[in-house]
Amino acid sequence: MPILVPEPHDEVCFREDGKRLDGRAVDELRPFSCEVGVIKNAQGSALVRHGKNLIYAAIYGPREVHPRHLARPDRGILRVYYRMATFSVHERKSPAPNRRENEISKVIREALEPVLFLEAYPDSQIEVYIEVIAADGGTRCASTTAASLALADAGIPMKSMVVGVAAGKAQGKVLLDLGDKEDKVGQADIPCVVVMKDKSISLLQFDGEMTLEEMKLGFEYVLKGAEIIYQKQLEALREKYNKISRQAEIEDAELSKETPKEEKTASESTDTAVSPESSDIFKSDVEAESAENTRSAEINETPEASETPSTEGSETKTSQEDVSSVGKEAKEENTLSEESAPSEVPPQAGEDNPTGDDK
Ligand code: CDP
Repeated sequence: MPILVPEPHDEVCFREDGKRLDGRAVDELRPFSCEVGVIKNAQGSALVRHGKNLIYAAIYGPREVHPRHLARPDRGILRVYYRMATFSVHERKSPAPNRRENEISKVIREALEPVLFLEAYPDSQIEVYIEVIAADGGTRCASTTAASLALADAGIPMKSMVVGVAAGKAQGKVLLDLGDKEDKVGQADIPCVVVMKDKSISLLQFDGEMTLEEMKLGFEYVLKGAEIIYQKQLEALREKYNKISRQAEIEDAELSKETPKEEKTASESTDTAVSPESSDIFKSDVEAESAENTRSAEINETPEASETPSTEGSETKTSQEDVSSVGKEAKEENTLSEESAPSEVPPQAGEDNPTGDDK
């Protein structure tokens, strides 16, 4: 009968050259990058890549609290939802929220609350949704970094940005920013959240065993790592506003390209009234109009008047007289037609047929 000997658990976290398995020094961070404004439907959002961790954070609010009984009349509430995707870890994770996720949501909320002015939002809530797409150890820290960045992106006033980073111990050495294996096989893990304004700690968890000296060294590493991440956070926010101002410059340039055309058109139309060519056009218009007037006056002239050779003044007078006589005649004709025309007064009651015509 074969004897089943459990495989010895590999606790090796260092290479022969003394470096960590991924080639880092003990006080070195994993590669970190972040960006903001990655989710268009959210009020603010951030994407953080911390080692192999890939984490999205999205902010909604401040908005009305649902259910209403959770609302507080003296201050707003912060609600954090940390969730791991089913495919984010080696072994499929159940999609249902578990105790670990609820605990991490709670500690992230407690790490963020001290830097927010929640008293400015009575009866309101700010919601922070965190989705871990890929997990590789230290997700609570990376999630807090992402949440802080997303809050800044949403324009929520904060006393300071916060940065999450862990220190720990593996194979007797104090380490910064533990990876998944170091986290699992190491002797200690201290996830911290640093308030960058005054370097105070808004979250401190401790799991394992460490001496006081080792802890102090761990905190030194944490502050050093947090500063590097903080600069990347600021860079991501700056990049967003640089992008906006670059876009605005492009739009301005496009507008100014269009505006001269409009101005040109406007000045062209103004020129029409004053330029010599256009004044000729204007002149020719005036001439055409006066010619038209003369022609109509000629038409109105009586044959006698037109035959009478005289000066311009007398011609004008004659035509004026003719016009007045024509006017007089027209008036007489109108009077006659008015007398002969049937009355437009509506028939009186009872006078259905005033003309007496039967139809
Ligand atoms: O992620 P963090 O270190 O903040 O929390 P943890 O509970 O100490 O988890 C450590 C690591 O275990 C996670 O980052 C994941 O990589 C891994 N993990 C896993 O493989 N399966 C789970 N259901 C939960 C976590």
